[in-house]
Amino acid sequence: MTGTISFYLSLIPLLSSIFATTVTSNPIARRAEPAAKPGFNRIWYEDWGHKNGITHNWVFDLGTSYPGQVAQWGTGEIQTYTNKTENIKIVNKVLWITPKKLKDAKGKITWTSGRIESRRGSQWACPDGKKLLVEASIKLGSAGEAQQKGIWPAFWMLGDVFRGQGYKGWPEVGEIDIMESVNGMRQTWGLVHCGIYDGQIPIRGPCNEPDGKGGFIKGIGRGLWHTYGIEIDRTSKNWKTEKITWIINGVRRHSVTGAQINNATAWDFLAHKKMFVLLNVAVGGGFPNGVEPGNALTPFSTTIDGDSVGMQVDWVGVWQQA
Ligand SMILES: *[C@@H]1O[C@H](CO)[C@@H](O)[C@H](O)[C@H]1NC(C)=O
Ligand SMILES: *[C@@H]1O[C@H](CO)[C@@H](O)[C@H](O)[C@H]1NC(C)=O
Repeated sequence: MTGTISFYLSLIPLLSSIFATTVTSNPIARRAEPAAKPGFNRIWYEDWGHKNGITHNWVFDLGTSYPGQVAQWGTGEIQTYTNKTENIKIVNKVLWITPKKLKDAKGKITWTSGRIESRRGSQWACPDGKKLLVEASIKLGSAGEAQQKGIWPAFWMLGDVFRGQGYKGWPEVGEIDIMESVNGMRQTWGLVHCGIYDGQIPIRGPCNEPDGKGGFIKGIGRGLWHTYGIEIDRTSKNWKTEKITWIINGVRRHSVTGAQINNATAWDFLAHKKMFVLLNVAVGGGFPNGVEPGNALTPFSTTIDGDSVGMQVDWVGVWQQA
């Protein structure tokens, strides 16, 4: 979800260079604890039950960029992130991230929303010969598509070297988008970003930037709890056959292998190095624009704010193979 502005200008090829699968697995209507993961140890877990709230495990990303870094979080998104409860709060041990639409005296519309990332010290790598699972239980807003044009919730990871070097060096630092969804669509994307991108079209580099590599999954019912996860599998002990697999409601969907990235350095950032996790709901930007006919600029005047376009997160966990 990071990038440069020019960078997301044409995401239409995204739809052709990746493959789709359709989920018919059970959506989970009610909240549920994580499924048992035999052979794995849980190494980090958030269920929003800490007395000091969100900041126990997370830091707020505020404003419109990382300090001094690329504007609009690099994607052209238009919201300002705040730490106000109208944008981000815990209710009954569920995190709510809620976009808000504001109109000033002159009728100018601006948006606010929320974004958090796991604290420094909370970042994980898959050890050689093992598997690592990262999963969350998430409910996406159920408002209709016309009301959600430009709304862009995400559960994702970035290479920890990114914050170690002052939030510079994307996409080389590696990004795994565990779940992204735009415009209220009943589908979610699971992609990786890596390697190089110099702002030019055509697409280039080991991760086909600016599109990324991965896939999307259709038939995701909104307003329902689903689990979204990735498994990094290094049990083959050969980087080319190592893989990252997206898992929704316990069903394995698409994978990306080292061979598909075909660049040992880029794969190292994606599958071997530590990553931190992020949760946010963006408004506008290259991805939601890119799936609209003619790259129409989102949000639209029909786009609404509030909980029915927000994202709820029941829990987030990281498990490592024993
Ligand atoms: C919210 O952000 C402001 C800075 O914009 C800061 O002063 C305040 O301490 C933050 N509150 C929390 C709970 O992090
Ligand atoms: C391989 O990836 C590295 C780092 O991600 C990048 O610097 C390099 O240019 C890539 N090589 C090719 C041929 O794309």
